[in-house]
Amino acid sequence: MSGVNDIRSTFLDYFRKNGHEVVSSSPLVPRNDPTLMFTNAGMVQFKNVFTGLESRPYSTATTSQKCVRAGGKHNDLDNVGYTARHLTFFEMLGNFSFGDYFKEQAIEYAWNLVTKGFDLPKHRLLVTVYSEDEEAADLWKKIAGFSDDKIIRIPTSDNFWQMGDTGPCGPCSEIFIDQGEHVWGGPPGTPEEDGDRFLEFWNLVFMQFDQTAPGERTPLPRPSIDTGMGLERMACILQGVSSVFETDLFKTLIAATEEVVGAKAEGEQAASFRVIADHLRSSAFLIADGVLPSNEGRGYVLRRIMRRAMRHMQLLGAREPLMYTLLPTLVQEMGRAYPELVRAEALTSETLKLEETRFRKTLDRGLTLLSDATADLSEGDSLDGETAFKLYDTYGFPLDLTQDALRARNIGVDLTSFNDAMQRQKAEARSHWAGSGDTATETIWFELREKHGATEFLGYDTESAEGVVQALVRDGAVVDSVSAGDTVQVVVNQTPFYGESGGQMGDTGVISTDHARLEVTDTQKKGEGVFVHIAKVVSGTLKTNEPVALTVDHARRSRLRSNHSATHLLHEALREVLGTHVAQKGSLVAPERLRFDISHPKPLTVEEMQRVEEMANAIVLQNAPVTTRLMSVDDAIAEGAMALFGEKYGDEVRVVSMGVSTDGDKAGKAYSIELCGGTHVNATGDIGLVRVLSESAVGAGVRRVEAVTGAAALAYLAEQDERVKTLASTLKVQPADVVSRVEALMDERRKLERELGDAKRRLAMGGASQDGGASDIREVSGIKYLGKVLEGIDAKDLKGLADDSKASLGSGVVSLIGVSADGKASAVVAVTQDLTDRFSAVDLVRIASVALGGKGGGGRPDMAQAGGPDGTKAQAAVDAVAEALGA
Ligand code: ALA
Repeated sequence: MSGVNDIRSTFLDYFRKNGHEVVSSSPLVPRNDPTLMFTNAGMVQFKNVFTGLESRPYSTATTSQKCVRAGGKHNDLDNVGYTARHLTFFEMLGNFSFGDYFKEQAIEYAWNLVTKGFDLPKHRLLVTVYSEDEEAADLWKKIAGFSDDKIIRIPTSDNFWQMGDTGPCGPCSEIFIDQGEHVWGGPPGTPEEDGDRFLEFWNLVFMQFDQTAPGERTPLPRPSIDTGMGLERMACILQGVSSVFETDLFKTLIAATEEVVGAKAEGEQAASFRVIADHLRSSAFLIADGVLPSNEGRGYVLRRIMRRAMRHMQLLGAREPLMYTLLPTLVQEMGRAYPELVRAEALTSETLKLEETRFRKTLDRGLTLLSDATADLSEGDSLDGETAFKLYDTYGFPLDLTQDALRARNIGVDLTSFNDAMQRQKAEARSHWAGSGDTATETIWFELREKHGATEFLGYDTESAEGVVQALVRDGAVVDSVSAGDTVQVVVNQTPFYGESGGQMGDTGVISTDHARLEVTDTQKKGEGVFVHIAKVVSGTLKTNEPVALTVDHARRSRLRSNHSATHLLHEALREVLGTHVAQKGSLVAPERLRFDISHPKPLTVEEMQRVEEMANAIVLQNAPVTTRLMSVDDAIAEGAMALFGEKYGDEVRVVSMGVSTDGDKAGKAYSIELCGGTHVNATGDIGLVRVLSESAVGAGVRRVEAVTGAAALAYLAEQDERVKTLASTLKVQPADVVSRVEALMDERRKLERELGDAKRRLAMGGASQDGGASDIREVSGIKYLGKVLEGIDAKDLKGLADDSKASLGSGVVSLIGVSADGKASAVVAVTQDLTDRFSAVDLVRIASVALGGKGGGGRPDMAQAGGPDGTKAQAAVDAVAEALGA
């Protein structure tokens, strides 16, 4: 019953049986607290329940919470490996009362579980209480039967628990166990308290206040309970070992490390094994919760942890990436309790390997530099900051890694000169952007970037989170507060809002506090990584440094996700259908539609568009998961990821894969692999449906494909369907027969047009008159001349009629003037072959044209054609030609 997994379930079962709701651990990246880097206690997810801001359907709860203490108020990083109990990652078992039971019941629950559930001997237990909390001391006496010497009153902040600089807090009482005389140390409150003999394992916090600002506390609506038991410490006690690293779980991890490095966890090396085991846990859990290594914020803490472990791997003799080979052991040990570890195993493995491969490139040289630079130093000396900065800047050694490396020799780092070197580098960067001619507002973003760092984007994992306002910009200037009616650009330390990039439009949504509401109409990225929320203050006043709730418009974001993922599918389908010359030339991912430009020399045929659409929809129907990994650009390209030529990518890129190819060389592999920073659906089925609407030209050799997905695609199809139904009822056929019916109607129409044309011509040439048109023929200078005005006859029909007339004349000249419906005239003059040496049709038609107000025409001597604007002069034109014949 003393294995880590048993202890966890014993604790949760005990409180479940006592009416507590068993709640899952919340992620390590807190969604509901912008001031915390990582979840550092079980109560973090309940912070707003304690203060009354949030209500839950239960008033008591119990959890086993993942915690990381490496950065911020509770930071144990530097101690890990060198003490028996410090860890960066640990599990905190806790029970909580939200205004339900208070001190007495909490102490009773704890005492019963410790002495009966876990069977710890009473005589080895002792407690601390906050010096002013007589009530707690009395309760311990009553419930545990403790004498005064077992109740130690502590006057300091050690017995007043606070989550961070703000948040719920209260006096606390800690339970200790005496591990025996063989371990060095003294009881709490004595000068030897830092020794390990008296081990604190459970902290009961009597939550009574909310720390709203430094020095300002307001009482909670109702007194509450928050407790935290270190699972690893309890394992230590129950397994009778004096260090957390000797407990079952750590022993397994350390044994696995011994195997891969081929060394024993003994002597001076032992600390390295402990560091590796702890850092492997924190790295794997952080990656599983969406943190990836980077050079800022949470990602940098992760990178520091990983690199620290990697240096220790190096100390143990590793000469190639090995951290990732330990992952399966961890997943086997902890994957059942934390399924996210299993889900993220591939991503974690790749991320560890990538980071280690990258760091290995400079690790050796950095360590050589470090040992050269410190060769002449002795205990108590400091390494100069310039060298530490060079290690940081050129060799990727985080400062604490350098400090850690020098720790054994008791050598420090000169932080003043390190910081000076860092400032110099920043000043240099500033001179670059300040001199680049950017406008004043652009400069603001760079200044904010320098002051606060890049905004942390949380939107891959969540659509709502809290952040702290770092800056408010109104009309191009930084202001301290904004109020109703203002249009403002808001910068926060972390945000779920996606800033427009890679063709995907920025998110919209709401930023709010208790007393203000802002509507965000767009989010843009500025000054290299600063997310700027463009918003209108709808009500209230917002000030810098205030915490805010940020909520992305979920429906709109879902459509953006769908459209973005569909763009990837269309991209691949277009390459498969049209050929690999197809390259992306631009794209727009909007909520209502997507637009994708490709290099392709000619229009897409209807069949090609259809095939592209079918392929994309086949992947949609696979409902395959969409995965994102962080990789080096080279590895990503080697895997076949599509990257934009000429695009500048960072060292590491996000690689989005979706679908499975079912045939060809790629069968069984990912259908689409692209470098992409956008937000995507979880599984291809979420896209619903892809519908290509059109393709068109946007420039030489560039075609634009437009498409819709999901509900928009359905609406489009419904509209099309409606049209077919209307058409069918108008045509009085079944919808299935619409096409054949329309084809039949078109045939009929062509036939009728032909017949109508013939009839018109006959009519025009006097086919219906008594003399068959002979009355239009006159003799001019012994030549037969047929001159006629034809109303409503098209110019294109005139030549045919003139040919017919020539034939019926045998020898002579024909002049036909057609007058169209809009009053314009066209003339055709024909001369039979025997007369072409006397008259040229070209000359004659020019005469007609002039009469019609035109400027001549053209043709051959036997047939010429011209136009003229003035149809009212048609008869005059006929006569002018007659006159010319007589001349
Ligand atoms: N929140 C308390 C702690 O972390 C229980 O110690």
